[in-house]
Amino acid sequence: EDSGKCPFRGTRIGGAAGTPPQIDDWWPNRLQVELLHQDQPAANPMSDENYKEAFNKIDFQQLKQDIKALLVDSKEWWPADYKNYGPQMVRMTWHAAGTYRIADGRGGAGQAMQRFAPINSWWDNGNTDKSRRLLWPIKQKYGAALSWADLMVLTGNCALEIMNFPTYGFGGGRRDAWEPDRSTYWGPEFWDGKPFKESKVGEYSDGHPDKMVTQTLRWKGEPSDENRDLENPLGATHQALIYVNPEGPGGNGKPLDSARAIRESFKRMAMDDEETVALIAGGHAFGKSHGMVTADKIGPAPEAAPLQAMGMGWQNPEGTGFGQYTMTNGIEGSWTPNPTQWDNDYLINLFKFEWKNKESLAGAIQWTPVDSNAPKTPDAHREGMMDDLMMMTSDIALKADPEYRKVCEKFLNDFDYFTVAFSKAWYKLTHRDMGPKDRYLGPEVPKEDLLWQDPVPACHHELVNDTDIAVLKNQILSSGLSVSALVSAAWSSAAVYRHSDKRGGANGARIALEPQNNWEMNRPSELNKVLNTLRTIQSDFNASQSGNKEVSLADLVVLGGCAAIEKAAKDAGTPISVPFTPGRTDTTQELTDVESFDWLKPVSDGFKNYHNDKIGYNVPSERIFLDRAQLLTLNAPEWTVLVGGLRVLDQNYDYAKHGVFTQRPGELSNDFFRVLTSMDYEWVPQGENEMLFNVNDRKSGATKYTATRCDLIFGSNAQLRNVAEVYGADDGQERFVKDFVAAWDKVMMLDRYDVKDD
Ligand code: HEM
Repeated sequence: EDSGKCPFRGTRIGGAAGTPPQIDDWWPNRLQVELLHQDQPAANPMSDENYKEAFNKIDFQQLKQDIKALLVDSKEWWPADYKNYGPQMVRMTWHAAGTYRIADGRGGAGQAMQRFAPINSWWDNGNTDKSRRLLWPIKQKYGAALSWADLMVLTGNCALEIMNFPTYGFGGGRRDAWEPDRSTYWGPEFWDGKPFKESKVGEYSDGHPDKMVTQTLRWKGEPSDENRDLENPLGATHQALIYVNPEGPGGNGKPLDSARAIRESFKRMAMDDEETVALIAGGHAFGKSHGMVTADKIGPAPEAAPLQAMGMGWQNPEGTGFGQYTMTNGIEGSWTPNPTQWDNDYLINLFKFEWKNKESLAGAIQWTPVDSNAPKTPDAHREGMMDDLMMMTSDIALKADPEYRKVCEKFLNDFDYFTVAFSKAWYKLTHRDMGPKDRYLGPEVPKEDLLWQDPVPACHHELVNDTDIAVLKNQILSSGLSVSALVSAAWSSAAVYRHSDKRGGANGARIALEPQNNWEMNRPSELNKVLNTLRTIQSDFNASQSGNKEVSLADLVVLGGCAAIEKAAKDAGTPISVPFTPGRTDTTQELTDVESFDWLKPVSDGFKNYHNDKIGYNVPSERIFLDRAQLLTLNAPEWTVLVGGLRVLDQNYDYAKHGVFTQRPGELSNDFFRVLTSMDYEWVPQGENEMLFNVNDRKSGATKYTATRCDLIFGSNAQLRNVAEVYGADDGQERFVKDFVAAWDKVMMLDRYDVKDD
């Protein structure tokens, strides 16, 4: 009889807060609206701190000195390899940043998510708990003035510098998260061949890749298949890994298969072939891999470890459990004879010698030089002992793949070029998710703008005042452009923002540039008409100024939306003034990476009832809609009120009437909510796929309106419906208009790091 047994590891028993089953166990397909309300100020003990001010007060050079001193101060509880913590810190930083993926901008070093589950317990992050714990004295000294996220990136830079590598720069300004993130989809997880739901709770979180059969699910096709395809939006090829399996896909030990996996995976994080080789060859110039003990002997990952482990994991019972006994990945050895110095020995040895397979003590596939005269590398802990050099299958991949090989040869012949390539790629890797340069803090921010930073010129002109704004609004409204067209242009320009990597937004007027101006979802021909009219108004206004006062196109696009909403609210009998903050500037096509910006195009966008079935996200549209709302940092009321407003303002991408539950489109009325909550209607699917619905009069059966899943969710989901009821109530109109305007302004300002605090 199992019924009396505790199903959980450790000492927890049933009956306490959060004990399963919970609503997600009972109804796994419910829309998790509560995901919009994560990491609230309530979770942050320092929500009253101004991080920018605090960080700027640090003696930055002193901080770097403190970190550099710590890196060569080996501690008894975790003795440093080669008496230098540099390499293990570089790996910690790389793993912090390396979770980034360009498809949804999630992951990355920006919030120090390596401190929390599931990332803190991924097999690939083995022993990064030691790296972070070693850094505690620095964090303790600087307290609120230094986030973990900034410390972890800066430590990577300091580590490279003490090993004589010239870094390209550092920008601070990362704000720590204060709880695990529940919204990021990290891929399916299967444990010993069973979906994790069916495996024993508490066991799957150890995440050793050998035991996890995730390969076949994440990929369409076998490891050697040329057309193998990785599930979107994932960046890593394997659950619980940062990128790829070092032993080749599925541990098959084949360098060419590994190269394909590396290319796909690094492409997902916006790195090209040269950047990829620079990063791998650069990173593996340092340190070593650890594989002195078999994985089955290693204790549970931090999240599953016993209380007395005090947040650390992977307890190693062999010998001292550290130093010469360390077990992290399972592969053992170093790539170069001088693992704490920046040099070109990684590539020199990779190419100079033939490499053959060898099994590590822990049973992992690795490679060793065929030539017994190949140089040796000093043992990391045992004085006077020399070890064989090592390569991983993923390292041999750089030599085996013809394109990677070309890059390697270039780097081999020109070490200075390689050095610059790695320093730039490292800077991009570690700052990729920071968004506008306005967010970067500290004395080491490089002056140069880089294309991946989506540069927008700084504002040097005098701004429009209230009188100018009133005049411009009148001109826009009397130009013949419809409310719907003006709102669509403004919304399209601002709502492309995503908070994950803080890209996109109205600043820069990229809505007028490739590729955004041609996205089908942005109603391109109407959009270009709006832009042309606004350009005329802009040039007339700017030409009539005597001083250096100007208005940008970016500002006019937003102002057009604000003016249109004021008109729509007035027409609905609830006049209101919509806030507008000028100061945006216009960027250029040359400063816009078209390919990289195309990633910002949502596959599905419920705000416009847009859904591209061809991309192959295997998720109902309302779930991607929730994802969009979360990327816009909306809470449930903001999300709801925006949809209700955008619908009656006719914002569907194809001008379809789905969700336009009103007889007076173009007026900012609460009609959407009145229809949505009314029992006068029946909601009838148009087809088996339940994508479109007829909204029929219950009595006559006549179809009054049509709707999509992204409309119905606000009446069907209990949490959203309760919000919809507020706006659909008889006293709801004024609140609806007021809240809509506030949420609208929030979206227009999402990327304005030039004027707002983070
Ligand atoms: C160590 C795999 C890319 C920097 C390691 C280890 C593995 C690994 C398995 C050994 C971990 C251990 O047992 O301690 C890979 C794979 C990569 C990759 C599969 C991509 C194909 C990179 C990149 C960097 C990097 C891009 C940095 C730019 C390092 C460093 C170490 C290391 C510095 C040594 C850590 C130490 O000495 O403790 N890598 N890596 N790696 N990796 Fe990578």
